[in-house]
Amino acid sequence: MKKRILTGITTTGTPHIGNYLGAIKPALDLVEPDNDSFFFLADYHALIKQNNPREIEKSVKNVALAWLSSGLDPEISNFYRQSDIPEVHELTWILNCSASKGLLNRAHAYKSMTAENTQAGNDEDKAINMGLFSYPVLMASDILIFNATHVPVGPDQAQHMEMTRDIAGTFNHSYSNLLVLPEAIIQNEVSVPGIDGRKMSKSYNNIVPFLSSEKDLEKSISKIVTNSLEPGQAKDTKDCTLFQLYSFFATTDEINEMNQAYKDGIGWGDAKKKLFSIINSEISPIREKYFELNDKPNLLNDLFFEGARKVRPQAQELIGRLREALGINKIV
Ligand code: TRP
Repeated sequence: MKKRILTGITTTGTPHIGNYLGAIKPALDLVEPDNDSFFFLADYHALIKQNNPREIEKSVKNVALAWLSSGLDPEISNFYRQSDIPEVHELTWILNCSASKGLLNRAHAYKSMTAENTQAGNDEDKAINMGLFSYPVLMASDILIFNATHVPVGPDQAQHMEMTRDIAGTFNHSYSNLLVLPEAIIQNEVSVPGIDGRKMSKSYNNIVPFLSSEKDLEKSISKIVTNSLEPGQAKDTKDCTLFQLYSFFATTDEINEMNQAYKDGIGWGDAKKKLFSIINSEISPIREKYFELNDKPNLLNDLFFEGARKVRPQAQELIGRLREALGINKIV
């Protein structure tokens, strides 16, 4: 069977190197003539964390441009906004009725918030909206609505993928096997670290920018936290953020050379220069393309229109079959 690759990015913030390495690049690497690909902007997911309309608009634009500048070809891959496919939300409700609450109670994002609340002596659900709680159901719907077979995601999404399979399995058990159980493709074994060593995330304020100027890239790399070993002193590559980031961009030979340089006591300043240069050489063509596309105001609206026109009938078709199975159809 033809593989159907599908993945989305939540439109909060401007994409950073972590999104590029963890989501965009691995997803685009899977595009082959024999595969179908579906790449989308999870804009309704963004409402969970963002209530500033201007920020949402800006992020949708930047995430879309990040995909396109990184090489997504809308003639080859399906490219659309989640919000342009209302059937996703119809399916979300249907799946809500198959998803057990206990399953969602165990979601990492929700659990860590309740744990924080409890620790602070607050009600465990303080400031937690239903969007956050049922986030995995909307994600399952994004995937199942288009019968995706393979979903490339970062390791932090592995649990959501298991939940998707679990929810689809429950549905299939009650009705006929109408939903395709997708496989996760976990591309990077480790999450991409940010400049402070924690997972790169806008909420930790530790990102390495992706689409900004060369100068901003250099500035953020200069801020990567290192230890106080002097040039000439041997350094350990283990648990070293700088080395980890370098490895994401380097070939095996380059990684081996850097390994040796650490043993030989490369100074942190020089190591940072090498990191800058390797990241910059990969992303400068992407940055140039981004600036070029950024000047074409109608491009995205046209692409979104066309993208939804192409894929929406498939979503409608599945919903039609589900409604029939559920008994929500013509009275006979
Ligand atoms: N949850 C994903 C993330 O934060 C984004 C996402 C939403 C997604 N829907 C999806 C990814 C469907 C893959 C498939 O990274």
